Amino acid sequence: MATPETPKVDLDHLKGKTILITGGASGFGAAFARKWASHGANIIIGDMSDAAGESLVAELRSSTGSQNHCYQHCDVTDWQSQVALFKLAVKQSPSGHIDAVVPNAGISGDTNSSPGNFEDPQGLDGDDPAPPRLKILDVNLTGVMYTVHLAMFWLAKNNTEKAQGKNENQPEGTRDRHILLIGSVASLTPLVGAAQYTASKHAVTGLFRSLRGTAFHRGIRINLLCPHFVKTGLLSDGVMLILAGGGLGEVSDVVEAGTQFMADKTAYGRSVVIGPKLKVEDGDDGEMRLVEIPSAEGEEGKGIWDCFAHDYQSTEAFFYRYTRLLIAFAKMRGWAGWAKDVFNVVFRRK
Ligand SMILES: NC(=O)c1ccc[n+]([C@@H]2O[C@H](COP(=O)([O-])OP(=O)(O)OC[C@H]3O[C@@H](n4cnc5c(N)ncnc54)[C@H](O)[C@@H]3O)[C@@H](O)[C@H]2O)c1
Repeated sequence: MATPETPKVDLDHLKGKTILITGGASGFGAAFARKWASHGANIIIGDMSDAAGESLVAELRSSTGSQNHCYQHCDVTDWQSQVALFKLAVKQSPSGHIDAVVPNAGISGDTNSSPGNFEDPQGLDGDDPAPPRLKILDVNLTGVMYTVHLAMFWLAKNNTEKAQGKNENQPEGTRDRHILLIGSVASLTPLVGAAQYTASKHAVTGLFRSLRGTAFHRGIRINLLCPHFVKTGLLSDGVMLILAGGGLGEVSDVVEAGTQFMADKTAYGRSVVIGPKLKVEDGDDGEMRLVEIPSAEGEEGKGIWDCFAHDYQSTEAFFYRYTRLLIAFAKMRGWAGWAKDVFNVVFRRK
């Protein structure tokens, strides 16, 4: 099926870039890696899922004929592990520099089970009560902060003079410095029952909003993707059941949005939300109006929506309307849509 948004920038700009992706062994990270490697980027992946990471790099080396792609075991919650990953990327890079970093590693899941029952604390008046488990914050926030901190150091070293002559694919004056943050709809709106995940992804928005006021001083571009729910390893069957009837975003749209930001050197301080494909038009009253829901069979809708992150008043107004559209979408699919999604989760595992 054709994607609704055709590329607006020349993807040849990806050629010769060295891009470090945490959590790149599966899901969005792996999809980014495949896309960007196919356009000539060198991909460095750090993940804890070694078999998947090594297999992906073998695939990239074989499909592109380049040995520059690399995998290294990395636990993003471990500072030294990330330090080593960045050093590997610099060593492996044909230019000797890193052009872009994607702090993508993230987890969701059950943080409310004992002993870390965060939203329903029990027994804290006993002797030596255990602290809540904050694993999601460790990975999605501390891990991201470590990655961004290292990126701010290593990207700033990516200057033209030093890189000059080391990479013939990269003419003088074109080297890029880019951090592509991975947020979520939970960066912009609460996910009820997922307080820790919401807190971690709201924090990513705070990081984005803060850094885009300063990162340009170091010549670093910063952009943010906020995917709605998309079927990857992150979503358990339980979450899929809760989402039944509501529709999902598509990995291909997340990749397209990330690729536009990665290849477009003028994209700075931008954020998009990526969700189920919708088709809307302006109503007479100036409100966005849902006119048609595309079928899964191929009718085109739009899955990537600019959320005008340069103006968060607009964003919140936008999100209010977008959420209403999603609710209308779920209502329109009705019980039949819900039943179909539940059937798929329970019987087809897709
Ligand atoms: N799938 C969705 O619906 C969705 C929606 C919004 C945002 N996101 C975000 O997208 C990002 C990628 O998630 P995904 O959907 O591709 O999920 P995924 O589970 O397919 O990929 C996440 C990757 O991170 C790795 N990882 C987990 N903990 C790690 C650690 N401590 N150190 C290094 N790597 C680690 C995993 O091994 C995995 O390869 C996450 O930040 C997630 O929060 C996902």
